[in-house]
Amino acid sequence: MQDTSTSTAPASHTRTGRPVISASGLFTPEESISNEELVESFNAYVDRYNAANAEAIEAGEVEALQHSSVGFIEKASGIKARHVMSKAPIVDPAIMAPRLEERANDELSIMAEIGVAAARDALERAGRDPADVDAVLCAASNMQRPYPAMAIEIQQALGIEGFAFDMNVACSSATFGIQTAADYIRAGNAKSVLVVSPEITSGHLNWCDRDSHFIFGDVATAVLVEDAAFAPESHWEILSTKLKTVFSNNIRNNFGFLNRAHPESEGSADKLFVQEGRKVFKEVVPMVAQMIIDEAGRLQMDPATLRRLWLHQANAGMNRLISQKVLGHEASDDESPTVLDTYGNTSSAGSIIAFHLHSDDLVDGDTGLICSFGAGYSAGTVFVRKVG
Ligand code: COA
Repeated sequence: MQDTSTSTAPASHTRTGRPVISASGLFTPEESISNEELVESFNAYVDRYNAANAEAIEAGEVEALQHSSVGFIEKASGIKARHVMSKAPIVDPAIMAPRLEERANDELSIMAEIGVAAARDALERAGRDPADVDAVLCAASNMQRPYPAMAIEIQQALGIEGFAFDMNVACSSATFGIQTAADYIRAGNAKSVLVVSPEITSGHLNWCDRDSHFIFGDVATAVLVEDAAFAPESHWEILSTKLKTVFSNNIRNNFGFLNRAHPESEGSADKLFVQEGRKVFKEVVPMVAQMIIDEAGRLQMDPATLRRLWLHQANAGMNRLISQKVLGHEASDDESPTVLDTYGNTSSAGSIIAFHLHSDDLVDGDTGLICSFGAGYSAGTVFVRKVG
């Protein structure tokens, strides 16, 4: 096991900037699929598949597919619905995948479009003129293309000078992006950095796989990380950021530019999201809980005093266990809010949506934790304190 953790605060070197979160932004797709709709289309797909393969199933050459169930999905994950960019083809039993029209090179690409919408929301909330932003990081678990970077397209659409680049740390992309942005501030290389996480996860999900067809949804978030000296009066002081990675094959996607197999060709299932959900659950919960407790200790903070946990939104049971270990009691919805019921798992955007939708009521001096975890394995913590 390799621990590649990094910690940047309190830093021992001279700081030229003190990073804060000035604002966050959210784009939510209009369309949503309820568990009932999802299971109805999945079960229709299963019936078609089993009918088409009846002889081979009868002969024992092909395994019959099994129906999915609304009750299982909600109990196992806490998910009741998910927003998507392209509903009709996903719930069409003959397609079972999003179909997003290709756009010309001179049109804004779809991932940039939703990233820009979330970024504009964050900029408006901070009262920030895009011309004053120095850098854009597009931090997400899937990029629409290898290059030019999505971040540079977003940068251009917003009219930002400076520089931009993409980064991918799966479900932890946003917190890794926040630390990267905070480090630019700490080092004095930037005073305002946008971390944008457009997650069109419906594209990497195997909607025909009973074990995982219910997991993901689409969304985009943005976080504006700035130097305290430059930020609006009301903001979130970043007390510390900490990252950790430990290699694991338990969440994996083998899609890449070296394996351009036809989607229906044999052996193509692993070119989409696959996971050993039970192992992930067992291995990630203790790792993340310990990481939070250790970091709180380093900050000389009792983790039980954290006013709110904005945890990664993958599974309600995982979040229950993590917050129990961190707070020492079962967390209320107020202490550890969930957005799983309406958004599903939105990969790196999940903890940011929770933060965005459930932070307005915190008051000056309240502390909280944004925490992500997922494939890699990867995990990131961002301890914050409300100012103003
Ligand atoms: N409908 C009905 N039954 C289903 C089903 C479905 N859609 N999918 C699986 N089942 C069945 C299985 O066949 C199994 O039946 P069996 O006990 O008769 O063999 C049973 O339900 C339990 O399956 P299991 O996969 O062990 O469920 P689970 O309780 O572990 O829940 C996850 C599955 C994926 C929701 C859960 O493990 C999880 O969320 N893990 C963490 C994943 C995570 O965070 N990943 C990060 C992704 S970024």
